[in-house]
Amino acid sequence: MQRAFFMNYFQIDDLKKKIVCAVLIFVGALLLGIGVAIVVERAQTERGITEQTSSQQDASNGQPSKIQQDEQVKKVALTFDDGPNPDYTGVLLDGLKERGVKVTFFVLGSEVELYPELVRRASEEGHLIGVHAYRHVNLRQLSDAQAIEQVDRTNGAIYRATGQYASYIRPPYGCWKEDLDYEVQMVEVLWDIDPRDWATTSSNLVVQRVLNEVEENSIILLHDASKSSVQAAFTIIDTLQNQGYTFVTVEELLLE
Ligand code: NI
Repeated sequence: MQRAFFMNYFQIDDLKKKIVCAVLIFVGALLLGIGVAIVVERAQTERGITEQTSSQQDASNGQPSKIQQDEQVKKVALTFDDGPNPDYTGVLLDGLKERGVKVTFFVLGSEVELYPELVRRASEEGHLIGVHAYRHVNLRQLSDAQAIEQVDRTNGAIYRATGQYASYIRPPYGCWKEDLDYEVQMVEVLWDIDPRDWATTSSNLVVQRVLNEVEENSIILLHDASKSSVQAAFTIIDTLQNQGYTFVTVEELLLE
């Protein structure tokens, strides 16, 4: 009775049709699913290839890598001795800031104590502070103890002004007692080009002397002690920047 009812209700042909229909829907859904999966997979692969290609282009055809840039940069270092100077160091710092240039100051301890704010400003603006001496004396003519005192007093003044001790020394006249290197734990830095800026009021003369001699990695000696020296420094910077030079501190030059 139940079976008869079942057969009657669905009709055998009808049931077959329904089964075929269900199978077709199932297979269709399966094929659709596979199709969607393939399309998504292909899209992801293509995007991956595109990203890979564009990053390769960045590396090869676009901007040069950091290492390539470093190799291309011609570095040069300006150094200023005998400061800080109340009349000229501030003007110099203004011009350096305008030009985005970092330099090195080898300062006298006695002047640091008089004008600590200039040394603090120089340090805060990214310039390197080194020791010249406490007073402008020839350290070789002093006893070891006196020479060390000249360095230590200067370094103390630098520390009080900037919160940091100096690591580099350029002794007055380039005269240092090398056997004290270990004692004072400092690196001596001399120079490659001395245009004798202190002996002239002509900034053009100073500029010409420097430009005649300058080459990659030159350390240039100047003094932030006169208007002509500061003007010469600005002209040297503007000229050499146009020639592709970058101005760095002596530390950056020596750490190469
Ligand atoms: Ni000097």
